[in-house]
Amino acid sequence: MQVKKAVIPAAGMGTRFLPVTKSMPKEMLPLVDTPAIHFVVKEAVDAGIDDIIIITGRGKRSIENYFDESPELELFLKKKGKPEILDFIAEITNMVNVHYIRQKEPCGLPNAILQAEKHVGDEPFAVLLGDDIIKSDKPCIEQLIEVFTKVKSSVLAVQEVPLEKISRYGSIDGTKVQPNNISENILYKVQDIVEKPRPEDAPSLIASIGRYVFTPEIFDCIHQTKPGVNNELQIADSIRLLMKNQEMYASEFHGHRYDIGDKLGYLEAVIDYALEKTDLSKDLKKFLKTRC
Ligand code: UTP
Repeated sequence: MQVKKAVIPAAGMGTRFLPVTKSMPKEMLPLVDTPAIHFVVKEAVDAGIDDIIIITGRGKRSIENYFDESPELELFLKKKGKPEILDFIAEITNMVNVHYIRQKEPCGLPNAILQAEKHVGDEPFAVLLGDDIIKSDKPCIEQLIEVFTKVKSSVLAVQEVPLEKISRYGSIDGTKVQPNNISENILYKVQDIVEKPRPEDAPSLIASIGRYVFTPEIFDCIHQTKPGVNNELQIADSIRLLMKNQEMYASEFHGHRYDIGDKLGYLEAVIDYALEKTDLSKDLKKFLKTRC
């Protein structure tokens, strides 16, 4: 029951980032010099996952190029004598074995996950959405895997969000596991999940974010899922079906989450990342002071 595979859906249209996503995937938007998807793949690798499936679509070739070998570039950097960047470039390629599966039409997250059904087979697996970048000492997905190993049921990552934002998420109706002998994180047993509720209808402000560990039964549930809110396939509806036959847990996590699917969240991530860079932070701080 070890979690060794991860699915990273990256076939969405990225309409919130138009017009740039007209010609480049939102997953390749950079945090200064490193594309967002790099951090997501790294999180999975740091959690011990050794088999990654990225779900791509039309116009997403640059993701494949990014993780591919680049002998000309490496030779060029060697000649120029730039060892640090050369090491970083080589590390990207050697990080992990990445497989790509194309989603023909971007017809919803459940359908994107379903593309990995054959590759995943009869094993539990992790799902990481590129919209969320999570900075933490222990990778967020590792925190979920630890819970999964104990409860042997699917686990969702959750976070409390303000009332005015709950309608962007799946809201959890659950009870706190008490006493919690399973994890250092606050844990909920989920009774229901309501996708994109109006604030007055939300069962709680505990929101499902883009990290999941699923048992393979989720695939059957996705096959049965009908279009839901906004007439789109919603992963919350597949999760509801899964809950009919399996306990479902939701785990809070230690770490800071950037919602980079949102423009403000993206800017926050870029600024924090830049402030951590020794070659940028001093001058950036000076510049920011002139603006605030
Ligand atoms: P989102 O709905 O947030 O992404 O899906 P989006 O559709 O690309 O963005 P907006 O809302 O139009 O701006 C969450 C994740 O699921 C993937 C996306 O790439 C994103 O990482 N996804 C979504 C797919 O892979 N396929 C889909 O059909 C839909």
